[in-house]
Amino acid sequence: MCGIVGYIGHRDSQNILIEGLKKLEYRGYDSAGIAVYTDKGLQVKKAKGRLAVLEDQLTGAPLSGSIGIGHTRWATHGKPSDVNSHPHTNVQKKISVVHNGIIENYIQLKEELIAKGYVFESETDTEVIAHLVSDLYEGDIVAAVRKAVKRIHGAYGLGVLAENEPDKLVAVRMHSPLIIGVGENENFIASDIPAILEYTREVYILNDGEMAVLTKDGVTLTDLEGGPVSRDTYRVDWDMQTAEKGGFDHFMLKEIYEQPKAYRDTMNPRIDGGRVVLPEVGMTADYIRDIRRVHIVACGTAYHAGLVGKTVIERLTRIPVETDVASEYRYRDPIINKDTLVIVVSQSGETADTLAAMREAKRQGARVLAITNVVGSSVARDADDVIVTLAGPEIAVASTKAYTSQLIAFYLLGLYFAQTLGTVDAGTVSATIDAMEKLPEQVERVLDQADVIKRVSEQIKDVDNLFYIGRGLDYTVVQEGSLKLKEISYIHSEAYAAGELKHGTLALITEGVPVIALATQEALFEKTLSNIVEVKARGARVLGIANEGDAEMAKSVDDVLYIPRTLPLLTPALSVVPLQLLAYYVSLARGNDVDKPRNLAKSVTVE
Ligand code: M6R
Repeated sequence: MCGIVGYIGHRDSQNILIEGLKKLEYRGYDSAGIAVYTDKGLQVKKAKGRLAVLEDQLTGAPLSGSIGIGHTRWATHGKPSDVNSHPHTNVQKKISVVHNGIIENYIQLKEELIAKGYVFESETDTEVIAHLVSDLYEGDIVAAVRKAVKRIHGAYGLGVLAENEPDKLVAVRMHSPLIIGVGENENFIASDIPAILEYTREVYILNDGEMAVLTKDGVTLTDLEGGPVSRDTYRVDWDMQTAEKGGFDHFMLKEIYEQPKAYRDTMNPRIDGGRVVLPEVGMTADYIRDIRRVHIVACGTAYHAGLVGKTVIERLTRIPVETDVASEYRYRDPIINKDTLVIVVSQSGETADTLAAMREAKRQGARVLAITNVVGSSVARDADDVIVTLAGPEIAVASTKAYTSQLIAFYLLGLYFAQTLGTVDAGTVSATIDAMEKLPEQVERVLDQADVIKRVSEQIKDVDNLFYIGRGLDYTVVQEGSLKLKEISYIHSEAYAAGELKHGTLALITEGVPVIALATQEALFEKTLSNIVEVKARGARVLGIANEGDAEMAKSVDDVLYIPRTLPLLTPALSVVPLQLLAYYVSLARGNDVDKPRNLAKSVTVE
């Protein structure tokens, strides 16, 4: 949510900032801006709209200088506009600030500053920081920022630049991700690694309450009191190609097609001799035996992975599991104690709602296991145990390979617990592992049927409403399919437990309404088929998705897609793929920006 880049070094900064912001545009894309220390002093250019609008403005009038900060915005306070775009400056335009997060006490601070005579230009919370730092400035920008952050409450990743001290860049982190890239005679700040990966692989990942002062020649880390912080850099072991489109038209399509690899990468190092090995989970057998309940907490797509996780863990271990939306979890007064294992799931590892839920769970004494795709993320650092999904960077706002890798993580974890508890026999464990090892090749076979999905997407692209139905695990998967379609096609859809339609929603099924029906759960196939027949009888146009060999499906629907057979527990890892493709092709057919859907951002670091 908002992307920050900063540079100090020997090169011209404008290009580094703009190219860095391009890599961060997934974090927010309603406006962008840069501030550069030029031979005319600190200069700012910012513009509403995509980064390309700012780039156009800079083409005729570049900002030249070797220290600068940049920002791409996802609006929280104040609508997208030129004036609300970052960087924000103090009244004299000599201190410039970029910010990711939310300042919760900004109204109170704003009133104080207005009373002192400060004039505000924007509706943002961030502008408060610029004036506050200015108010506290006595010739030392580091000291002023340190004093300012003591006054602000909330979440912030900050980059600050002062015209009077053009040899340094200040960065602070509190609940909003920020990394420092360490180069030779140049250093960087960024919200995420891809922004600086072209220049360096050595990064510091700031912790909450840490500050970095960057000069051309070095980086000093301190806490907010100015006490030294000592830490080794982290070496990034993936390259830019992984974070680029690689011949695909969109990141989302590339990421859908990367799923077989993501499955293998997440699974293979954790399987050995027909058993699951999870050295990163430091739980003793006694601890696992004492778990009385599991809470899975996550948002959006990760929550949908958690719904599958609930079934997986319950079936394999018979431990009761509840899955909660993170933004609700804290407020429902959940029953948590030391026998409760809380599993948080987050691709980015920076989702504010998930982090807040996780902290509450820890405060109440639960052990927290994180499933995340980002090493060194806040979720990864705060959890007791971490299973990293090895899906590689996910750039498209619509999550695909992260979701399926999270499913793989749940299968591994469920089997690992079951091995320890003896709740399933060794034969079942090894048969499940065998079936998991076939999934990558089976996903490829689903991807080979993209033409069926393209055809159906043409029928769907102009409708206003559609329905997804399924039972059991299929119901959890259609919830993900429906979210995917909504977020990138902007078509309203609902996911229903197929048996629930007759209790109300069937009234909405009329001639030609599209229904996507998933029927991959063997034990529920007949029942779901009856529900399909019911919607057909009311005029629905149905795409049925079933297991190979379930020929009955083709007889009952308008279009059919068969997925390769696997164990019922594993089908979500296959059946979600056509739903991802459907959302992609419908979005494409409607001319939407697939990778950057309106109003959204990839990493949601505000509550
Ligand atoms: O990074 P996280 O997994 O914590 O993100 C959670 C949700 O914001 C995310 O899954 C969101 O729902 C996706 N845009 C859905 O495609």
